[in-house]
Amino acid sequence: MLCVVDLGSQYTHLINRRVRELGVRGEIIPWRDFKPREDVDGVILSGGPRSVYEEDAPTIDRSYLDELSDRGVPVLGICYGHQLLAQLYGGRVERGAGEFGVATLYLRARDQIFKGLRRREKVWMSHRDQVVEPPGGSKVLAYTRNTRIAAFRLPNGFYGVQFHPEVKHTPRGRKVLDNFLTICRARRDWNMMGYAEEKIEEVRRRVGRGKVLVAVSGGVDSMTAALLMKRAVGDGLEVLFVNTGLLREDEPKEVLNILKRMGFRVRYIDASYEFLKALRGVVDPEEKRRIIAEKFAEIFSRESRGFEFIGQGTIYPDRIESAASSRAAHRIKSHHNVVMPDTGRELIEPLSGLYKDEVRELARMLGLPRKLVERHPFPGPGLAIRIVGEVTEDKLRMLRKADKIVEEEMRRSGYYRKVWQAFPVLLSLRSVGVQGDRRTYEYMIALRIVKSADAMTASFAKLPWSLMEKISSRIVNEVEGVNRVLYDVTNKPPATIEFE
Ligand code: XMP
Repeated sequence: MLCVVDLGSQYTHLINRRVRELGVRGEIIPWRDFKPREDVDGVILSGGPRSVYEEDAPTIDRSYLDELSDRGVPVLGICYGHQLLAQLYGGRVERGAGEFGVATLYLRARDQIFKGLRRREKVWMSHRDQVVEPPGGSKVLAYTRNTRIAAFRLPNGFYGVQFHPEVKHTPRGRKVLDNFLTICRARRDWNMMGYAEEKIEEVRRRVGRGKVLVAVSGGVDSMTAALLMKRAVGDGLEVLFVNTGLLREDEPKEVLNILKRMGFRVRYIDASYEFLKALRGVVDPEEKRRIIAEKFAEIFSRESRGFEFIGQGTIYPDRIESAASSRAAHRIKSHHNVVMPDTGRELIEPLSGLYKDEVRELARMLGLPRKLVERHPFPGPGLAIRIVGEVTEDKLRMLRKADKIVEEEMRRSGYYRKVWQAFPVLLSLRSVGVQGDRRTYEYMIALRIVKSADAMTASFAKLPWSLMEKISSRIVNEVEGVNRVLYDVTNKPPATIEFE
């Protein structure tokens, strides 16, 4: 196995993810907890925002590294890790001019770690400090215009690289990591199946004969978490599906069908009237979110009596974004439903180390229907935040119909899979139109169709006009009460993906 030591970088998880993609089992260890374990084949030291010469900067015990060295276990330092290795082995690190973004790496010497790379490669850099004197006896392997020592190898076979091989902006970065794993002679036997089996075993051990309740929304995360836990505890698991009345056309029926078909014990609560009543007269988006979360918490607390464990489909980015948003000075949106009520029960989150595409792979493996696996993300507060202004039964009806049309046409044209999200938003604004010689004064719908890799940034999709026309004419013809369709041509930032 490979140990990824977290020295504070936002990319630590990405390193671990690449390691896994290359078929090696990786584990992240916070720097304070690092010890040279018996079963480790190699160690990667992550980047980090600090400076190695600061007094309380993250570090690891040199004697631990020496122990690894004695055992012939290779170490690779990345960015801050590179600087830390240099410092621990007698080199010098200083503040420099810095390098941010893409740089050209020039290879000075051939080495196994750069096997398959050309003499000049694009790499991604993000550092202010740099190694100005290499550690004793080391060989400098590469440089860039602003960084004299961009990579080195110590006599004991430890490596440091100043650039980030784990990010996509370093096109041959994956190859560098691949080479390192080869140098480590790490076993390439990690795969999603293995991960699932391990998690199933872990849940089984934790839960024993206890009872678990998982709230499912019909989305891929919660459904996959539920499926995995079902494999672990069988009938000890029950799923709770709450119809908030804010779901898409036919969604409650479809989700219930799937749950039943997959053999779940289901608790179905139709709370649509309750939710709608609570939302009456509410216009402010955050107020809507608060009300929905509270209502849900109320139902969940009530229904979870008698269960010792609560299961949840939290995935890795949820944790990052929630952590980031709780730190940020300005709360943009109270996102991501990590606001499960504190019920005092033990929480199980078997997907918390996975990214969205990994969850999708796992979902396919566990047999979740394809349509569900590939469905676009849908926010927890549902259609309530896609109606700008007050939520009413009538507006929900219009929005559901329009949403169905958008999804149908996007799927039919093959564009559904090419975009991140595609949905209509109902604006509580009316405008004049003409239909069959008669003047109309009705609502308008905005289409939001975006491309994105992770929802942090997004750009509006440039789709063929013929498709836009099809969607628009179907909406105005088939959705009673709507006479105009707009297209949102704003990127994120500055606009967010959802309107509220
Ligand atoms: P924004 O609108 O912030 O959305 O650009 C980014 C991603 O998050 C989804 N989103 C939410 N998901 N609860 C959720 O579970 C929410 O309150 C919420 N608000 C936005 C949005 O659909 C997009 O994928």
